[in-house]
Amino acid sequence: MLFTLAEMPGAHPDLRSSRLLPWLTALLWLAASAVPARAQEATEEETPAEEPAEGEEAEGVPEEESSEEESVEEVVEEEEEFVEMEEYVPRPTLDPGRLLVAQRRGAVVYAQYCAACHGRRGDGLGAAARFLQVAPRNFTTGVYKWRTTPTGELPTDSDLLRTVRRGVPGTAMPGWDGRLPLRDMWATVQYIKTFSPRFLEGGRMMPIPMPDAVPAFDDEMRQSGRLVYILLSCWTCHGMDGTGNGPASDTLVDDDGNPIVAYDFTQGQMRGGTRPIDIYRTFTSGVNGTPMPSYDEAIVVGRDGYTDFSTFEPVLSREGMQRFRQFVASLPTTEELWALPEQERLAWGIQKRWDLVAYVLSLSSGNTAWRYLWTAPYTTE
Ligand code: HEC
Ligand code: HEC
Repeated sequence: MLFTLAEMPGAHPDLRSSRLLPWLTALLWLAASAVPARAQEATEEETPAEEPAEGEEAEGVPEEESSEEESVEEVVEEEEEFVEMEEYVPRPTLDPGRLLVAQRRGAVVYAQYCAACHGRRGDGLGAAARFLQVAPRNFTTGVYKWRTTPTGELPTDSDLLRTVRRGVPGTAMPGWDGRLPLRDMWATVQYIKTFSPRFLEGGRMMPIPMPDAVPAFDDEMRQSGRLVYILLSCWTCHGMDGTGNGPASDTLVDDDGNPIVAYDFTQGQMRGGTRPIDIYRTFTSGVNGTPMPSYDEAIVVGRDGYTDFSTFEPVLSREGMQRFRQFVASLPTTEELWALPEQERLAWGIQKRWDLVAYVLSLSSGNTAWRYLWTAPYTTE
């Protein structure tokens, strides 16, 4: 059975009206025919036998266009209140029937808007991929960079949706807000998860709690942030001046063994988002697939963690070294920190992270004074 792209059941309205190349039709057709199998695979275990979509698939008869549209509407209507919240709470697995509807819709949207870069099979090998400097994500590995979840873990739906909505500044990945309806973006998120078996392992995701209020940044926070930046060795990769020229920067490779640069904080636009909360989230959860570590619990280090100051000597000025020693001496011990009531310990870590955010943001402000603060003169030459 052959039909053109425009007649495709569930085709996006834009698709029906646009003039498209025949290869795109072929691509979409191939992608769409691969969907039921994949979607079914994804829900195989939970899908009840009476699930209506299942029978239709088995016969290979695509749903009527109108009924597909309607059921997506229905599904999304119930999800919408969650989807529209920017940081919505991850939900226990969707009802399998509704998930299937969303995935099928997502597959159609994906074929039209995402496959050219991310590949029909989600392997990142779309036709446009070889022209791109930053490679499109390979969804089959389930490794995602921007998450609220601990390092190495899968992202939540809202993490994926956030990236799809905003895009990845400085790369080819566009932000889809305003170009696609929210429900289509959400459906695509459900679909891209089917590319990696890791999402089938299930389990509830446990995001790292993010603070809801952003403090007002002042110079005191920036100074303290500068010290935390030195203390936690951010500079070994990102450089004392924040431009990404730290001593370890030449040796960095991503999970595929490709050289990777530590981000240059002076350039402004960050891939994981540039709002204070975005920066907070990015370094707290770490960037999976890259050497960028997570500073979730790693932030809870007391003065006993720093007894050897020799690594700091070459990079700090006399004044800087003095400030740094004072700062370290003012910290509680690691044991004292862990003995604190949980809320207090968390608040301590949150404060340190906001200081870091304040400092990191100051690096892109054009005020170079912060960049070289307390730096040994010979390291900035
Ligand atoms: C023009 C090419 C292009 C198109 C079209 C495109 N992407 Fe991307 N996408 C990229 C690139 C490049 C990256 C990798 C960015 C990076 O690693 O810094 C990416 C990354 C992603 C990520 C990874 C986020 C993470 O946390 O690791 C997701 C999710 C994503 N894209 C979803 C989509 C969806 C959904 C669509 C279609 C609606 C889409 N992309 C369309 C190029 C594209
Ligand atoms: C082992 C080296 C290393 C260390 C140590 C390190 N980073 Fe990174 N960082 C990286 C790399 C590499 C990237 C780029 C990841 C990418 O390209 O997606 C990165 C990216 C980032 C980003 C994301 C920028 C964006 O585009 O969204 C932030 C924010 C960040 N680092 C903050 C920090 C902070 C704060 C510290 C210290 C607490 C730190 N990093 C320590 C290697 C490091």
